[in-house]
Amino acid sequence: MARPTPSVTSDAITGRLSEIAAAVGTPCYVYDAGLIRAAYLTLDDAFDGYPHAIHYALKANSSLAVVRLLQSLGSHGDANSLGEVDVAMRCGFRPDQIVFTGVGKSAAEIDRAVALGLLAINVESPGELDRIDQRAVAQGTLARVALRVNPDIDARSHPHISTGLRSNKFGVPIGEAPALFREMAARRGLQPVGAHVHIGSQITSLEPLTRAAEAVVGLAHAMRGEGIEFQHLDMGGGLGISYDGAPVIDPAEYVRALVQATRGSGLKVAIEPGRVLVGPAGVLLTRVVDVKQFPAAKRFVVIDAGMTELMRPALYNAYHRVEPLVPRDGEAVPVDVVGPICESTDAYARDRLLPPVEVGDLIVVHDVGAYGAAMGHTYLRRPLPPEVLTDQGQWRVIRRRQTLDELLSLESE
Ligand code: LLP
Repeated sequence: MARPTPSVTSDAITGRLSEIAAAVGTPCYVYDAGLIRAAYLTLDDAFDGYPHAIHYALKANSSLAVVRLLQSLGSHGDANSLGEVDVAMRCGFRPDQIVFTGVGKSAAEIDRAVALGLLAINVESPGELDRIDQRAVAQGTLARVALRVNPDIDARSHPHISTGLRSNKFGVPIGEAPALFREMAARRGLQPVGAHVHIGSQITSLEPLTRAAEAVVGLAHAMRGEGIEFQHLDMGGGLGISYDGAPVIDPAEYVRALVQATRGSGLKVAIEPGRVLVGPAGVLLTRVVDVKQFPAAKRFVVIDAGMTELMRPALYNAYHRVEPLVPRDGEAVPVDVVGPICESTDAYARDRLLPPVEVGDLIVVHDVGAYGAAMGHTYLRRPLPPEVLTDQGQWRVIRRRQTLDELLSLESE
């Protein structure tokens, strides 16, 4: 069992958590702007003047205030749906600051992406290449396209969030890339601007990321030899964070490795980080609603948040630190911290050592800034919880709690 570690998140946020819980109720998400800023600047500074763009992966957390904060720091955007493209633009990103990836872009999405003139539509297949070309020709325009290559590299992450193997559905096999770049260059409606690779998420060793970068740099050199010149190399996202205190890749070291791999080509490096920018900056604040002990068996701490607010434990068996906001005196005992949802997978922690807790105590679930609220849903007619942003001792509600009437407003009897 991984040991709980002291948390940066708690230092920045915990001081205000009881006050926030009293004001907005539980469950609620609380993010710290200072931690997001610091994570962004660490990546940005590490490029040390090398031409680059950081395209924040909106999928990690596309709450308007969070996206706006990253935009104000100079970030660009990575969108995975038309909805995310629209959110990015609403938060101030220009179309030529947005890359658009997606393994199944619909006709409407392609049409709009072409019309907007995005920085790059990352092409996932020969068929999609054709469809984008057709729409661009019909609109009398040139679509900027990059090719998403699948380098067949094992990211050594959780199988559900690995994307760079030939058995995964993403991109085109790298061996087919040269022919597809030739095809792109020959099309009337397409302008090839780069190559894109993203081999997975929550990656904790540098080597697969470096190998993927080297693969696309090699491709850029090969295509240059044929007179097809790229404008950027998009290395995707994937940097892992330490949920359990185990060592992870140092973000600055990661950037330096990418720059080292790319420098010889002189090409601009784009990256699409999500989790590393916002994950550690967020906690989920919940309250104990029941404690029950089965005779000579498990002790359950039932809280008012579950897989509706944070799917990661149920979906990937993911580890999140869970602890009382104010620990009570007494011996720590192993408990299952479970949610109120009628599914056995609805548990945030199993056999976790926790000090004594009582009904009404506040429980903090750490590192939920990425893929927490963004993957939230309303199973059991549970309205979406509020989100709060803290900044230098101040806090404000950036999404209020959904009401049941709002949840039902699309329906008729
Ligand atoms: N770029 C592309 C093309 C992606 O598919 C993703 C994530 C990212 C960038 C950002 O990756 P990050 O830096 O956040 O690792 N729901 C899962 C994670 C799914 C990631 C999907 N793609 C989880 O909760 O762990």
